[in-house]
Parts: sequence; C-alpha cells; structure tokens
Amino acid sequence: MSHLVVVMGVSGSGKSTVGGLLAERLAVPYAEADDFHPPANIAKMSAGHPLDDADRAPWLDAIAAWITERGGKGGVISCSALKRRYRDRLRAAAPDLFFIHLDGPEELIAARLAARMEHFMPAGLLRSQLEALEPLEPDEAGAVIPIEGGPAQIAEQALAALPD
Ligand SMILES: Nc1ncnc2c1ncn2[C@@H]1O[C@H](COP(=O)(O)OP(=O)(O)OP(=O)(O)O)[C@@H](O)[C@H]1O
Ligand SMILES: [Mg+2]
Repeated sequence: MSHLVVVMGVSGSGKSTVGGLLAERLAVPYAEADDFHPPANIAKMSAGHPLDDADRAPWLDAIAAWITERGGKGGVISCSALKRRYRDRLRAAAPDLFFIHLDGPEELIAARLAARMEHFMPAGLLRSQLEALEPLEPDEAGAVIPIEGGPAQIAEQALAALPD
C-alpha cells in the first residue's frame, strides 16, 4: 500500500526529523511544506510580517498539487497544518491523506528549539503556535504520536500507526 502522509505539529515538534525517517522507511519521496511558498510569501515573512489565510492559499494549493501528484504512489510531507481548514484543503487533494501529529510537552519542544542552533526562533513563536493548534478531530484520518523518545523510535511508532 502506498502511504500519503502529512507529518504535522508545531515548530520544533520534530516534523522534519521524523518525516525524513518515515519517508526513508516507506521508501517514498519526502517534501517540506516550507519549500512551497511563493516568492511573495517569502518576502513577507522575511520582512517580519505574519502570513494571513489569503497568503496561505497559493502555498496550500502548491502543497496540494504535490500531494495529488504523489497519489497512488506515496509520499511524506512535513507541514505544521495547525488548522483544520488547512488540513481540509490538503485532504481535498487526496482523500486517503493520513496525518501524523507529533505532540509533546511545551517544555520539551522549547528545549529542542533552543538546542537547534541553525536558525533563530523568536520568543513566543512556540506559544502562539500551541495556541493556534486545532488538534485532529475524530473524523480526520490520523494519529497523535508522542515525541518523548528518540527520532527512530518516533518514526517506528508513526509507521505502526499508518493504516494497513
Ligand atoms: N525525538 C527527538 N529527540 C531529540 N531531538 C529531536 C527529536 N526530534 C527532533 N529533534 C531535534 O529538535 C529540533 C527540532 O526538530 P525539527 O527541526 O525536526 O522540528 P520541526 O517540527 O521540523 O520544526 P520546524 O517547524 O521549525 O521546521 C532539531 O534540532 C532536531 O534535531
Ligand atoms: Mg522542519
């Protein structure tokens, strides 16, 4: 069975780390949602302005196009997908899309963000993401995976949670 998976969660929850491992285990392509922003969004974010939903529309369309292209073949993409409406947009691209939500205590995520030296994380970003997060609802195909363990263990749990 070819799995189409979105690895979701707040910044620092381990989406890129676990998503890459999961794609390796499934032997399917891996993508990062951040790479699908149009230049206008990158300019806006670089200027320190938050994106609104109108800005996000072409970005979600581009991610959805990747998902559609992988339909029947499989793929893993990391995308925070904090809002139900973003997930609805992505699911419209592939009805069998499965969401792995990486979830853990704020202090643990904050510590991992602090240790991640390659990019500066504005104070308060994690808190605002946790406040924005709309958890998976019962009618959404997906699983919540705890992030206390090591990356390989988390990827293993994610793998086990995928539908047969
Ligand atoms: N299970 C883990 N155990 C220890 N460290 C981890 C684990 N998962 C991720 N990390 C580390 O935590 C930091 C955040 O992980 P990662 O960059 O994968 O998160 P992310 O969800 O992709 O964040 P962003 O949304 O900002 O891209 C990285 O430095 C990563 O190496
Ligand atoms: Mg990432």
